[in-house]
Amino acid sequence: MRHLLEPTNLTVEEIDQIMERAIDIIDHRELYAEACKGKKLATLFYEPSTRTRLSFTAAMMELGGNVLGFSDANSSSVSKGETIADTIRVVSCFADIVAMRHPKEGAPLIAKRFSRMPVINAGDGGHNHPTQTLTDMLTIRRELGHFDNLTIGLCGDLKYGRTVHSLIKAMSRYKGTRFVLISPRELQLPSYMVDEMRKSGIPYKEVNSIEEAMPELDVLYMTRVQQERFADKAEYERLKLAFVLDEEKMGYAKEKMIVLHPLPRVGEITEGVDNDPRAAYFRQVENGKFVRMSLIYTLLKWRDQEDNIKERTLVSNEGKRCSNPHCITTKEPLAQEFYVDDKGVKRCNYCDHEI
Ligand code: NCD
Repeated sequence: MRHLLEPTNLTVEEIDQIMERAIDIIDHRELYAEACKGKKLATLFYEPSTRTRLSFTAAMMELGGNVLGFSDANSSSVSKGETIADTIRVVSCFADIVAMRHPKEGAPLIAKRFSRMPVINAGDGGHNHPTQTLTDMLTIRRELGHFDNLTIGLCGDLKYGRTVHSLIKAMSRYKGTRFVLISPRELQLPSYMVDEMRKSGIPYKEVNSIEEAMPELDVLYMTRVQQERFADKAEYERLKLAFVLDEEKMGYAKEKMIVLHPLPRVGEITEGVDNDPRAAYFRQVENGKFVRMSLIYTLLKWRDQEDNIKERTLVSNEGKRCSNPHCITTKEPLAQEFYVDDKGVKRCNYCDHEI
């Protein structure tokens, strides 16, 4: 069966199919009202969420299916110390598909190994968030009409912002994509993401202000500084409003550009921007439900297809452990797994951090 742990688990053609299906769902809602009748979606949310969990729930309900799960790990057996492997084995007896969010990076990879249902990663730590990317892409598609030759500004927390990492992976595969990075030095992209862009030959540059980037952007992707990933709260306070989009800065933008934000926002876009027709972030939320309907429908249809997520060739850990405090291996009793990337750098198989 097929899983979605990160956007590149889908080919460009498959992403196209999911977009087409989402648009078909928007145009013919009634045809899908019973498309998943009798099927159950489990939502396992080990980390707080409003939008994503409700969006998955609404999506399955609109497909005529049912939803079960938990929104707080403390109210489940997880609080008794159950491993992800065991939880997913158990939930496989009750549901047909699972959407899982976990604060530790790499958690969905373990779930996938033990699951008898398609696993959808609904966010793992600061690592990936592929269904947000599908949401972002459906919005780009509906607002701008295409994915080619786009200059995309990524602003805010590029270090811990999992939505940014997944968006880069997905959009790097289209012709003419360029990225403009706008973040405080402390919140720059992790090195494995910079390598990802270099590997795909994607042009990118770093600038120091939104104003400087604005005139050339087709998409401005704003993000929240991810408070929950900071060890040092004073540092969060210092950086949280380093870049704020306001009406004056919108004045530098092209007439046909869009502002996206995965939400929640906590001050990085002033409310005055909401009335600008280029502010697409609330339309983006609704697209999230449609694209999740399309994804659930498609993954259930592909149930009998072979898993296309190739396990990497692992190399000896020489007694080392992953040093990323946000990695799942720090929480669960897992064997350390390392791989070597294209540049010869040794990385953790779960969270991709350099060892
Ligand atoms: C994002 C997330 O959870 O990573 N939110 C979401 O899924 N809509 C972004 C964020 O929390 O900042």
